[in-house]
Amino acid sequence: MSEYVNDFRRAGHEVVDWIADFLENTRDYPVLPKIKPGELIDALPRSGPEKGESFEAILADFRKLIVPAATLWNHPRFMAYFPSTSSTPAILGEMLAAALNTNAIHWKTSPASTELEQVSLSWLRQWMNLPDEFFGVIFDTASVSSMHAIAAARELADPEARENGARRDLVVYAADQAHSSIAKDAMALGIGRRNVRLIPSDAEFRMRPDALAAAIEQDLVAGRKPICVVATVGTTSTTSIDPVEAIAEIAERHGMWLHVDAAYAGAACIVPELRPLFAGIERADSLVVNAHKWLFTTMDLSAFFTRRPEVLRRAFSLVPEYLRTAKDPRAVNLMDYGVPLGRRFRSLKLWFVLRYFGREGLIEMLRSHVRWAQEFAAMVDADPRFERIAPAPLSVVCFRLKGSDQENQALLDRVTATGKFFLSHTVLNGRFVIRLAIGNIATTREDVAYAWELIRSI
Ligand SMILES: Cc1ncc(COP(=O)(O)O)c(C=O)c1O
Repeated sequence: MSEYVNDFRRAGHEVVDWIADFLENTRDYPVLPKIKPGELIDALPRSGPEKGESFEAILADFRKLIVPAATLWNHPRFMAYFPSTSSTPAILGEMLAAALNTNAIHWKTSPASTELEQVSLSWLRQWMNLPDEFFGVIFDTASVSSMHAIAAARELADPEARENGARRDLVVYAADQAHSSIAKDAMALGIGRRNVRLIPSDAEFRMRPDALAAAIEQDLVAGRKPICVVATVGTTSTTSIDPVEAIAEIAERHGMWLHVDAAYAGAACIVPELRPLFAGIERADSLVVNAHKWLFTTMDLSAFFTRRPEVLRRAFSLVPEYLRTAKDPRAVNLMDYGVPLGRRFRSLKLWFVLRYFGREGLIEMLRSHVRWAQEFAAMVDADPRFERIAPAPLSVVCFRLKGSDQENQALLDRVTATGKFFLSHTVLNGRFVIRLAIGNIATTREDVAYAWELIRSI
């Protein structure tokens, strides 16, 4: 046994050194791998080894084959989609979580993980200025978190669904800018994609409350049952922010569940001067924010908050005999609040992150990202060859060359082909738009300026 552990000790030190070197020099790696589909599969043996191999051999192949095949989300010039950056405390928390390998099915199977989940989410909730009654639970992704929100909405509106399956007349509302996960969640829950109303947005890509109210009225007249409205704060294309106050009024009037999808932008709630952008989110029945997006926490950690945990619990509590435990008011059983039974110790890395940076450290980083995005937006505005397509309230800038979609696609392709930056695109009002998203912990103001220099020169 001790040789087995010593082997780990040696390789473990080497791995930590490799990680530190990698983090120090990530900028020298291409952000996107130069690899064709299937190339890694072809480079690896068709079947696994009969006899165990040394860490040396495995790590050598990791460096030679795996790293060059990886898109580097930890790269400071990864500016596509929403950056999903890690940080050193998150990496250490992840390693230690793997060492403990707890499984927080119910309290007794892992008191540490169960209770740290509540503590770390309570800290985050306070920093985000959310009401005390918000109960937090961690899921893997925002897609899955939102699915639980919609399931809770259904539970509230139609408890029969739990036993008999979904009715065909339940309706969910979200803006046309909402993430596709909302429709997918409705598909998964048996509500059906056709029963998701995509409400038109205004000129700044925010849900129009008048159109929401009209759609609900129309469904009521047709005898359908509106159950849930999803407001997005920080939409995927432009980071537009739906008017949550007005949407909350409508949801409350109709007794509907209000879910706020703050997967990306929720992190910015901790920045005092940005918090007013999110007015109304405290009225939500549930809210999701991905710590793995803009809170420097390793994939994956989606923080889900609800003021109605009892509804979520009713929707999902089903305890087989072998998992029955003595009741204790302080012993939370996380398996009762969602589909997953087993759950890994995700909160450990979040706790490391929150402690290592502190509230002020996180605020400072987010503030810088927003400031650099504003600077980038100003540079775009100052160049008559380009136009900006949407307001940039946070750390994403949507812009395009004044030209055809093909020219914009070609520009984006050429930027990406340099291997220096990874930017992505969206389509707004039928036009191809380039997006630059800032959010990586290692990104500097110089990286952002260089991105603009490169785009202009191309
Ligand atoms: C607003 C919004 N909601 C949900 C998601 C889905 O996130 P996840 O990958 O955690 O499911 C995204 C992804 O970028 C998003 O931008």
